[in-house]
Amino acid sequence: MKLQDLIEQVRDTFNTAIESCHNVKDIQDVQIHYLGRKAGVVTNLFKELGVSAVEDRPSLGQQINDLKEYVTKSLVIREQIITEKLEKKTFVDLSLPGNPEFIGRLHPLTLIQNEIISVFEGMGFEVATGPDIETDYYNFEALNMPKDHPARDLQDTFYLEDGNLLRTHTSPVQIRVMEKTEPPIRIISPGRVYRKDTPDATHSPVFHQLEGLYVDEGVTLAELKGALLAFAQALFGQEMKIRFRSGFFPFTEPSVEYDFSCIICDGKGCSTCKDTGWVEISGAGMVDPAVFEFVGYDHEKYTGYAWGMGVERIAMMKYRINDIRLFYENDIRFLEQFS
Ligand code: PHE
Repeated sequence: MKLQDLIEQVRDTFNTAIESCHNVKDIQDVQIHYLGRKAGVVTNLFKELGVSAVEDRPSLGQQINDLKEYVTKSLVIREQIITEKLEKKTFVDLSLPGNPEFIGRLHPLTLIQNEIISVFEGMGFEVATGPDIETDYYNFEALNMPKDHPARDLQDTFYLEDGNLLRTHTSPVQIRVMEKTEPPIRIISPGRVYRKDTPDATHSPVFHQLEGLYVDEGVTLAELKGALLAFAQALFGQEMKIRFRSGFFPFTEPSVEYDFSCIICDGKGCSTCKDTGWVEISGAGMVDPAVFEFVGYDHEKYTGYAWGMGVERIAMMKYRINDIRLFYENDIRFLEQFS
């Protein structure tokens, strides 16, 4: 091969070699390979000069010198690029904003539950809880629902193989507390309850209730109405009204169903309240003397009121949500809206 071509070839292979240098050691290897004093590829080109035609020597010598300079400079530049990159990697800019951490938040049902609790705590009620898996005795029997009572229907209740069941309401907590405590009693009991309902916009097989119970000497239904009204106004504003309708529960006598005035239309009538101006909340009443007998209270001495409350229903009113299933789908876009 002619020296002229050889010079070009060396330049090409050098260009490839330097591109694949990724650290200082690579650079040093390439440097020795091309510029090594004894057997460097470029160094050897100078030796070839001796066997080329005399008249070509000045020009070829110049070209080899240029190549040597090119190789030397390229090695320096490549080394700078590599070391700067390394430095960049380890350089920490403390003035940059950090990556925002994803912060979780409370579920809307927990938020509303906490709010309900704090209102009733302000009236002197204390939180009491009971198990989700209940016995027939606490969920039905002691609440004055004997064996043949229709509320025990297999169609409504999730029974477990061992004969226990998933509580269908929070009322069993009334019994558990009264069994252990003498009046006066003022408790609220929030928690999950279960019913074999097909999910739709207003039904979910698991939902939340908040039970209230007040037992003492001389407790009246009027006080119950006062407490529920005070609650409604604390949560939804002074213009709220409540009403009692007659109802029936085996564990209260008399029993009522209670409604809040519709906050969507201020009681004028809309689709939410089905044009009645009222939204049904839950049931309540005076504790049935039969229940006091189960827990060993003297029903001549004590009276008490109790109420239930659908937590989802309150949350739906408060946050204007029209489908209960949203609470259970855990769509982050829904949950993110509450804090
Ligand atoms: N436990 C009843 C229900 O789930 C509500 C209720 C509670 C009624 C307390 C009266 C007294 O529907």
